[in-house]
Amino acid sequence: MLFQFLKKETKLQHFCDLHSHLLPIDDGVKDFSEALLIIKELENLGFKKLIITPHINNRFTNTNKQVLKSFNLLEQKIVEEKLSIQLEVAAEYNYDEVFFEAIKNNSLLSFSKEKYVLFEFHKHHKPLNLEHTIYNLRKLDYQPILAHPERYPFYNTLDEYQKLKEMGLLFQINLLSLEKFYSKESYKKVKLLLDNGLVDFLGSDIHNSSKYLEVFKKSLTSKNYQKIFQTNTIKNNYL
Ligand SMILES: [Fe+2]
Repeated sequence: MLFQFLKKETKLQHFCDLHSHLLPIDDGVKDFSEALLIIKELENLGFKKLIITPHINNRFTNTNKQVLKSFNLLEQKIVEEKLSIQLEVAAEYNYDEVFFEAIKNNSLLSFSKEKYVLFEFHKHHKPLNLEHTIYNLRKLDYQPILAHPERYPFYNTLDEYQKLKEMGLLFQINLLSLEKFYSKESYKKVKLLLDNGLVDFLGSDIHNSSKYLEVFKKSLTSKNYQKIFQTNTIKNNYL
């Protein structure tokens, strides 16, 4: 009994995750068994819905057809395992020519009726012509979401982040950043974003069942996690 009191409780406040690598077609899970293991854990934690976002970029040149085929196989397994969690599929684009081509062809994999498009920047290259790209996306009724704004070395100040938001980007942070999973800098920046109420979505960005899953579970029991909802309007539960 004593251990029950000592054990940290997970008081989950967001029931939908919108960023994960749970199809074996990128640098995420190695197979469907690993995906199922993670999905079962997330369902046990209280997640009701997962939006799966495999990389589509010039390194993982997945086509929409390949993504949908792999997703259908995963959905079959969810039915076989009698899991009730809801799944949706989209993508995580990189700010590269594959993304620009998909915008040009209006063939982006988006999610929810808001037509959200998740994308990231290259780790070391500050994006060029960003306002123009956002304009092109908005013209097609897409709403861009920038994945993990805390992880780019070329953005550091509140002023820089506010400018990105004024351009029309929504921000999705990785909960793993709050656990110093990536770097001290990412931790500092995720705190800056959260303290200033700039965060719209929370993501796991989960890639595997070992390190990522454990740290993600830990992040849900931290004081930092509970504080997020006092200072930010988190939209995950509307997805
Ligand atoms: Fe990701």
